[in-house]
Amino acid sequence: MQIFLDTADSKEVRQWLGQGIVDGVTTNPSILHKEGVHDPAEGAAQLCALLGDKPISLEVTSNDREEMVRQGRSYARWAANVVVKIPICTEEGESCLGVVHELAGAGVKVNCTAILSFNQAILAAKAGATYVSLFAGRIADEGGDPGIVIANVRRWLDLWRSPAQIIVGSIRSVMDIQQAALAGAHIITIPPSFLPKMVDHKYSRETVRQFNRDAQKAVAQMARARAAQ
Ligand code: E4P
Repeated sequence: MQIFLDTADSKEVRQWLGQGIVDGVTTNPSILHKEGVHDPAEGAAQLCALLGDKPISLEVTSNDREEMVRQGRSYARWAANVVVKIPICTEEGESCLGVVHELAGAGVKVNCTAILSFNQAILAAKAGATYVSLFAGRIADEGGDPGIVIANVRRWLDLWRSPAQIIVGSIRSVMDIQQAALAGAHIITIPPSFLPKMVDHKYSRETVRQFNRDAQKAVAQMARARAAQ
């Protein structure tokens, strides 16, 4: 399973890349806005360079499907690791599968986003998306069970040997990460603030403290034994 960071914060990306757990990055217009990135091209350039050949998803910013294709083609020229995020439908619920299909046909890697149901996911995979982004938190907001949706989509992709991969996003708690991992997500995109919580445990701290204390006692004992010789 891969881990992507759901952020546009290059400091966080650099920090967690150094710890060997980052396989890619996802962004969306809300994340860029939160990070104060007003020019997506500028923000992307820094992240693309930082990530080397690891993928970075950048979302189109228009509700017009022709404009989505235009933006998608343009983003894809920015760097070889750019993946273009296309929503499953417009604000009016019209299909964006044609956009996914056209870009995929032109060799652009597409992350089909804002997916909240099994049916949306299988259509996105059929249209040629490299990634289908299931929004766990938003599925749960609506009373759905993200674990069931993730497991069903994974089963279908495997059954039909689809190359599409599930990215689970919209993570709201550490428990969402565990649930997505066990349900069969290929990738989970995690806001960096959750990673220290995944690492830390009060009993791990106590265990490390105990070992360090005993190691110091052993060193002191050896020093005493040497002094007595
Ligand atoms: C990732 O690709 C998504 O854009 C992101 O995880 C959505 O998260 P949200 O539901 O918290 O906005």
